[in-house]
Amino acid sequence: MLRSLALSIALAKAASAVSSSYNFDPLQHLAGIAPYFEPSDPPLDPSPPQGCHVTRASYLIRHAAIYANDFDFEEYIEPFTDKLKNSTTDWGRAGPLSFLKSWQTPIEDEDLEELTHIGELESYTLGATVRMRYPTFKAPGKVWTSTAERTEKSAQSFISGLAFGSNDTQKVSVPESEAEGADSLTPYKGCPKYSSSGGSEQSSQYKDIYTNPIIERFRNLAPGFNFTNDDIVGMQQLCGYETVIRGSSPFCDLDVFSANDWLNFEYMNDVQYFFNAGYGLDVSAAVGFPWVNATVSTLLADEAEQDLYVSFTHRELPPMVIVALGLFNNSAFTGANDPNATMPLTTQNYNRAWKSSHILPFLSNIAIEKLSCDSYGFDAGNYVRVLVNQSPQYVPGCANGPGESCSSDQFQELVQKRGELAGGFTEKCEPDYNNSTDVLTIFNSSS
Ligand SMILES: *[C@@H]1O[C@H](CO)[C@@H](O)[C@H](O)[C@H]1NC(C)=O
Ligand SMILES: *[C@@H]1O[C@H](CO)[C@@H](O)[C@H](O)[C@H]1NC(C)=O
Ligand SMILES: *[C@@H]1O[C@H](CO)[C@@H](O)[C@H](O)[C@H]1NC(C)=O
Ligand SMILES: *[C@@H]1O[C@H](CO)[C@@H](O)[C@H](O)[C@H]1NC(C)=O
Ligand SMILES: *[C@@H]1O[C@H](CO)[C@@H](O)[C@H](O)[C@H]1NC(C)=O
Ligand SMILES: *[C@@H]1O[C@H](CO)[C@@H](O)[C@H](O)[C@H]1NC(C)=O
Ligand SMILES: *[C@@H]1O[C@H](CO)[C@@H](O)[C@H](O)[C@H]1NC(C)=O
Ligand SMILES: *[C@@H]1O[C@H](CO)[C@@H](O)[C@H](O)[C@H]1NC(C)=O
Repeated sequence: MLRSLALSIALAKAASAVSSSYNFDPLQHLAGIAPYFEPSDPPLDPSPPQGCHVTRASYLIRHAAIYANDFDFEEYIEPFTDKLKNSTTDWGRAGPLSFLKSWQTPIEDEDLEELTHIGELESYTLGATVRMRYPTFKAPGKVWTSTAERTEKSAQSFISGLAFGSNDTQKVSVPESEAEGADSLTPYKGCPKYSSSGGSEQSSQYKDIYTNPIIERFRNLAPGFNFTNDDIVGMQQLCGYETVIRGSSPFCDLDVFSANDWLNFEYMNDVQYFFNAGYGLDVSAAVGFPWVNATVSTLLADEAEQDLYVSFTHRELPPMVIVALGLFNNSAFTGANDPNATMPLTTQNYNRAWKSSHILPFLSNIAIEKLSCDSYGFDAGNYVRVLVNQSPQYVPGCANGPGESCSSDQFQELVQKRGELAGGFTEKCEPDYNNSTDVLTIFNSSS
C-alpha cells in the first residue's frame, strides 16, 4: 500500500516534470540582434583534445551589442514607435500588450550604431575569458579592428579585459574604405557583387507569411492600432535591442510573441543572411577566404610575432568566413548540391545547419587554433581546429586528428582547395578600382 502510494507520487512527479519541461529563450533566436551567447552547436567539449595544447590562435570577432543599426531603426523600429506616440489606443485593455501604455523607447537617434554598456562589458569579459583560455600566451602586441566606432570600442574593451591593465597591447585601426580589395576587415565593402540589401527579397516573402496571423491577433487586442508587417518585425527586434540596452524587455515575453513566433522571426533572418552573406550568395567564400588564408599562413609559419591574433569586424564577415571554411552547410552529408533548395522561402527547414543566431550574434567569434599534440592513436605534431562561439566545429576535409582537429599538413591542403573553390576576391567581385588585391596583409610584421 505504502509502496504503491510512493510509486504513484513518484510517477506524478515525473509526469509533471515531463509536461513542464518545455523551455524557450527568445534571446537565443534573435539572429543578428542576439545578445552574445555560446550555443554549444555542436555540443562538444571546448577543451583541447586529450594530449593537445594550443600554441597559437587567431580570432575574428563581430563587434559587441549596439543600440540598433540605422537600417533596423529606420525601416522597422521608428515607424512603430512614432505611431505608438501618436496612438489613442486604450492599451490598458490590450491584454499582453498592456505594457505599451507606459513603455518608452530605449533608443534615441544619437545612440544609433553605438555600443551599449552591456556590449562593452561583454567585450571586456570575452577578453578576460580568452586570456584564461590560453594562460601560457604572451599578451599580443597588436589587436586589429576596422575603424567604425563600434568595432574600435569593442576592441578597446576586449584589450582591457585581455591585458588586465598592462600596457603591452596596441589597437591597430584598419580602414573600412572600399578600394582596399581583400586587404581589410570589411572586404565586402569593396566587393560590388555584395549588396547590403541582398536577401531582403527572399526574406520578405517569409515575413508576410508569419506576421499576418500575429497582426490579426494584435488587432483583436488593440482595435484601432494599424499594425503592419514591419511593425511586428520592429517589435521583435526591440526584444533584442532593449535587452542589450536595459537588461530586459517586455517584448520578449512569451505572451506577446510565442516560441513559434520567435522561430519564425529567426527563420526569416536566416533566409536573409543565407542570401546576403551565406551559401546563397556566389561571392561569399571569395570574400571570406582572405582572412582564413592570412590566418592560417600566420598560425602555421615557423616564426610568428604573436601567440594570439584578434581582429574585430562587422556582422557580414563571419558568415562569409564560415562559408569559406564550409561550416554550417545545410547540404553537408546530403549528397545534394543545390544550396538554395535547403532554404525554402515559404516554409521552415527546421533541420537546417544555417542558424544565424549561432553564426552572428553580437560579439560572435570564430577561432582557428594551432595545437601541439601527443595524443593516443595519433602522430605527435601540429594540428589545427576551428571553434565558433567556443564550440569545436567539424570542418569538411579536416578529420585526421584528435577531436575535431586535423594535421597542419591536411589543413594547409584544405585551405588551398577551399581557395580554389572560392575563387579570387578580384576575379569574383569585379571591383571598378584598379588596385584591388586578393590577400589580407595586416598580420604581416611590416604593417
Ligand atoms: C503623428 O502625429 C503628427 C501630428 O498630428 C503627424 O504630423 C505625424 O505624421 C504622425 N505620425 C505618425 C507616424 O502617424
Ligand atoms: C603605455 O604606453 C604608452 C606608449 O608606449 C605610454 O605613453 C604610456 O605612458 C604607457 N602607460 C602606462 C600606464 O604605462
Ligand atoms: C588603392 O588605392 C586607393 C586610393 O589611392 C587606396 O586608398 C587603397 O589603399 C589602395 N588599395 C590597395 C589594396 O592598395
Ligand atoms: C495602415 O498602414 C498602412 C501602411 O502604412 C497604410 O497603407 C494604410 O493606409 C493604413 N490604414 C489605416 C486604416 O490607417
Ligand atoms: C541561389 O540564389 C541566388 C539568388 O537568387 C542566385 O544568385 C544563385 O545563383 C543561386 N545559387 C544556385 C547554386 O543556384
Ligand atoms: C594565401 O596566403 C599566402 C601568404 O600570404 C599567399 O602567398 C597566397 O597567395 C594566398 N593564397 C591565395 C589563394 O590567395
Ligand atoms: C556544401 O556541401 C555540399 C555537399 O557536400 C558540397 O557539394 C558543397 O560544395 C558545400 N558548399 C561549400 C561552399 O562548401
Ligand atoms: C588606376 O586608376 C587611377 C585613377 O583612376 C589612374 O590614375 C591610374 O593610372 C590607374 N592605374 C593603372 C595601373 O591602371
